[in-house]
Amino acid sequence: MELTAAIRGRRSIRKFEPRDISKETITDILETARWSPSWGNTQPWFLYVLTGKTLQKFKEMNLLQSMAGAPVASDVPMLEKWPDAMKTRYGQLGKVVLSAQGIARDDKAGRERYYAGMVTAFDAPCLILACISRDNLVEYQMLDIGIIAQSICLAAHDKGLGTCLLAATARFPAEIRKIAAIPDDKKIIVGIAMGYPDSSFALNQFERERAKLDEFVSWLD
Ligand SMILES: Cc1cc2nc3c(=O)[nH]c(=O)nc-3n(C[C@H](O)[C@H](O)[C@H](O)COP(=O)(O)O)c2cc1C
Repeated sequence: MELTAAIRGRRSIRKFEPRDISKETITDILETARWSPSWGNTQPWFLYVLTGKTLQKFKEMNLLQSMAGAPVASDVPMLEKWPDAMKTRYGQLGKVVLSAQGIARDDKAGRERYYAGMVTAFDAPCLILACISRDNLVEYQMLDIGIIAQSICLAAHDKGLGTCLLAATARFPAEIRKIAAIPDDKKIIVGIAMGYPDSSFALNQFERERAKLDEFVSWLD
């Protein structure tokens, strides 16, 4: 796939076909992603690939915790306190993901169904949890994690797979550790749901918004 087309064409996928991804395919994607840049080539990332029974247990746990209203206890703060402009965009996304599925604002059951789907990684057959060492206090490694996450998403897209980065899968690290062998010295930053996209699903098709360049680029001649 041509690179510009891949960057522009990748989008978050929120419904997947009920079809596993082969270990070879996942390995290929990670083989590509490991060439991501990082500060001083430190490569501070650790990736945990959840599939099969482990992923099933994860989904059950994350749904249970979320529906019980368990307080978020993520390894990185998820304060959700955004500057106004970002809050507006966040709100717009929230509206469009519901309206694309025909869920009205006052349809509490519909919203809960969608939310349940999100915390169960949209039932993807694979969830990659991206982690960093707890004893690494360099904040820049968060950037490195972001870069490898994007590489994974693009390499997956190149293979016809869909992904969705999901903070919603990193809210309960202590519970995750009871299910998946992720040691306590690793901070769980974000999950990447991956699978074959169900392209007919409205939520995988709605028109996405981006700010125009003049809203965030300053040319300093
Ligand atoms: C760090 C991070 C966390 C995210 N967490 C979630 C999430 O919990 N739930 C969700 O539906 N999408 C999540 N997303 C996906 C964003 O909503 C999505 O990337 C954004 O709306 C832009 O849309 P696009 O990926 O389709 O271009 C996350 C993205 C990032 C980068």
